Amino acid sequence: MAVKNNRGISAQALSRLIRAAAQAREDAVAPYSQFRVGAALLTKTGQIVTGANVESASYGLTCCAERVALFSALTNGKRDFTAIAVVARAAGGPMPCGACRQLLAEYASDAKVFVADSRRLKSVKEFSVRELLPGAFLDFRPA
Ligand code: THU
Repeated sequence: MAVKNNRGISAQALSRLIRAAAQAREDAVAPYSQFRVGAALLTKTGQIVTGANVESASYGLTCCAERVALFSALTNGKRDFTAIAVVARAAGGPMPCGACRQLLAEYASDAKVFVADSRRLKSVKEFSVRELLPGAFLDFRPA
């Protein structure tokens, strides 16, 4: 089922973003799980910033593709993200983990989240950050 159009992003831009995530996945460093993930963030001005997961022998240090892309974008001065695509060899596409959902809620709350299986890039599922993490922790100031 190909997604024809999505509010805020053209079919062409979506296809480009998904392909960027699939390409980024090629550079994943996943010697322990062998589960390679690529992510591509789209800014309001049409720029794409990619990332892939990096694993550590100290497993807990592993960083997901979404966060690698987000940290790269943020530390290169990018803001105002309209979408993020995540691609892995996973039926229906890889669902972002809880930690990535939190970071997306903080830094890309208006972004559409698109996921796709690397074997079926035309079959894309769409989510909002809000639906992936309702009631996100965003405010630590005392009431
Ligand atoms: N992983 C991601 O990069 N993104 C996700 O959305 C799910 C999980 C990575 C972390 C780890 O390197 C591997 O997939 C297996 O959990």
